[in-house]
Amino acid sequence: MALAIMCSGGDAPGMNPAIKKFVDYAFKRGEKHYFIYDGLEGMIDGRIAEASHRDVAGILHRGGAIIRSSRSKRFFEYEYRKQAFENLKKHGITGLVVLGGDGSYRAMQRLSEEFPLNFVGIPTTIDNDIYGTEYCLGVDTALNVIRDALDKIRDTASTFRRAFVVEVMGRECGYLALVSALASGAEICVVPEADFNISVEGKILQKEVEEGRSYILAIVAEGTERTGEIAKWLEEEIGFETRISILGHIQRGGNPTVTDRLMAFEFVIRAVDHLLQSSDSNKVVAYRDGAYHLMEIDDVVSNTYRIDQGLLSSLNLID
Ligand code: F6P
Repeated sequence: MALAIMCSGGDAPGMNPAIKKFVDYAFKRGEKHYFIYDGLEGMIDGRIAEASHRDVAGILHRGGAIIRSSRSKRFFEYEYRKQAFENLKKHGITGLVVLGGDGSYRAMQRLSEEFPLNFVGIPTTIDNDIYGTEYCLGVDTALNVIRDALDKIRDTASTFRRAFVVEVMGRECGYLALVSALASGAEICVVPEADFNISVEGKILQKEVEEGRSYILAIVAEGTERTGEIAKWLEEEIGFETRISILGHIQRGGNPTVTDRLMAFEFVIRAVDHLLQSSDSNKVVAYRDGAYHLMEIDDVVSNTYRIDQGLLSSLNLID
């Protein structure tokens, strides 16, 4: 039996610590271990190589993923999945650790229904939007990148008497925006999970301005698609010269934080242990209520992540 590790979908800080742990731990457990380069695309094209300690020396502190990642359209077609499986078979790979999100799990589930193969998913996305886990690899680093940017934007906003609308990533999920707004004390937070009532918020802001507020920081989740509208409102209704700052892909980069490194180790140990113990079930490692759990793939992919209501209420976004 040989094991392999692969990254799939958007990269996230924490992938490299996970890759390093995979090599070290599989070696310790006496298993042959491989890298699949370039995600599902690389699996189709046979970019698979045995991994050694030398490959993972000095990568712990680096963002991105040394084995790279991809999103694959070809994988939806049976002939390419068959080709991918043949490539795994050549190396005797029967167990896979997959760093990615639910789209990647669906793809792998399909493959393992058609061919004798097992996989364990490790929730990896800065969006923190995977059902069943409170934490996805990369989130803490992304939050710290955003925090750093917001602290700097606040400096310039407060010096110039301006409003800043900062758009953060997260796809349909407002988690990054919510936690960033809390941590940076933003005046405004707009997320897909809550109504943002412009007239109510406008009255509160106007009162604060009358009482001396001299700058405004607004965090808008990309999934709301309201960045431009909020900027226009702050400029025209609230009366502040306004700038938009879209943080973009810097949120996906940077040295993984201590939390992301340690979480990566824990996720990988559980994934490898499961693959070695059981050869007939696919799982996702989840972190919930202070413990790690192995979840059924079906549970993860057929349910929708719901944001913590406590987070919404701490920003007064729900009653
Ligand atoms: O899922 C991670 C993420 O960074 C989202 O927050 C964002 O919407 C998307 O990926 C961006 O994708 P791409 O890198 O393809 O532009």
